[in-house]
Amino acid sequence: MRAEVAAAALERTLGSLGEEAAAGLPVYRGKVRDVVAGKERLLLVASDRISAFDRVLSTIPFKGEVLARIAAFWFRETADLVPNHLVAPDETGGLDVTAATGRCALVRKADMLPVEVVVRGYLSGSAWRDYREGRPVSGLVLPSGLERDEKFPVPIITPSTKEVSGHDRPVSGAELVASGIVERELWAEVERAALSLFRRGQELAARRGLILVDTKYEFGLVDGRLVVADEIHTPDSSRYWYADGYAERFTARDAQRELDKEAFRRWLMEHGWSGDGEPPAIPDDLRVETALRYVRAFEAITGEKFVPVDLDPQALAKSAADIVRGHVA
Ligand SMILES: Nc1ncnc2c1ncn2[C@@H]1O[C@H](COP(=O)(O)OP(=O)(O)OP(=O)(O)O)[C@@H](O)[C@H]1O
Ligand SMILES: [Mg+2]
Repeated sequence: MRAEVAAAALERTLGSLGEEAAAGLPVYRGKVRDVVAGKERLLLVASDRISAFDRVLSTIPFKGEVLARIAAFWFRETADLVPNHLVAPDETGGLDVTAATGRCALVRKADMLPVEVVVRGYLSGSAWRDYREGRPVSGLVLPSGLERDEKFPVPIITPSTKEVSGHDRPVSGAELVASGIVERELWAEVERAALSLFRRGQELAARRGLILVDTKYEFGLVDGRLVVADEIHTPDSSRYWYADGYAERFTARDAQRELDKEAFRRWLMEHGWSGDGEPPAIPDDLRVETALRYVRAFEAITGEKFVPVDLDPQALAKSAADIVRGHVA
């Protein structure tokens, strides 16, 4: 990338768009997305903000678009299995909101279950850290003698509660049901849905030379019906490895090759920060490298070349505002 192109892209990254698009509606600003809230629909606007250890640290060029389009890809590829929250183009006069804007999704407002439904195919990340220290993983006691990055015979579900403030808390499914957070039959339905989404995710990833290692789903109810909401199988909500060489690296006890934001987190940890105190300033070369990783992830996962829907921020704000006026309010 030429230096001035890179500088322009860094300059153009979008911190927020919800405010401009809102047309008088309430805007909820998540860490990464701005949510414009109508009565029955929402416009989710994926910004370029990057968070790690629950803190927003910088913006990454194209990140919002990459994530919104990967999520749209997976919703399309799994719609036959589990209904999702997207409003289909046939309900908007043929307008495909994500294709038109790159980074927005028009969705049905759901009554969200306050649970992050984490599905794991391999013993990695925080599950491995818990296991290594002899702690159960979301209440599951796993067999002894497992190694880091080992594949489970079948994927496991390790939920956490979604806390309004503070860090999420791991819980077991039994505890969720016993404490009345999710009703028993609904939880069984959630588990079935999550496992079938994950199986499809693993199958399609495998065809692209990737391993879908673990992921997080958020479910909600629309008119009493279970839908998968939020985003699915994106690099922010999932861990992917390259399949090629997995077994060799596993046998040699080497780290797996990742396709996700772990490299960004690693940089932070190498610079002495893992969530406490003042974070280090994020240099532009790390922002550019991270942008390239996200673009590579888009191309690896979808098999398409990433050509940004190249709207300038003003044009994008206008088109988002039009969508809000026509389809959210
Ligand atoms: N269909 C939907 N109906 C209602 N709320 C939704 C729906 N889809 C997603 N959400 C919510 O919208 C918000 C999206 O914003 P975002 O993910 O940036 O916020 P966050 O969850 O606070 O941050 P982070 O994901 O970094 O923890 C989340 O709170 C998510 O639960
Ligand atoms: Mg979120």
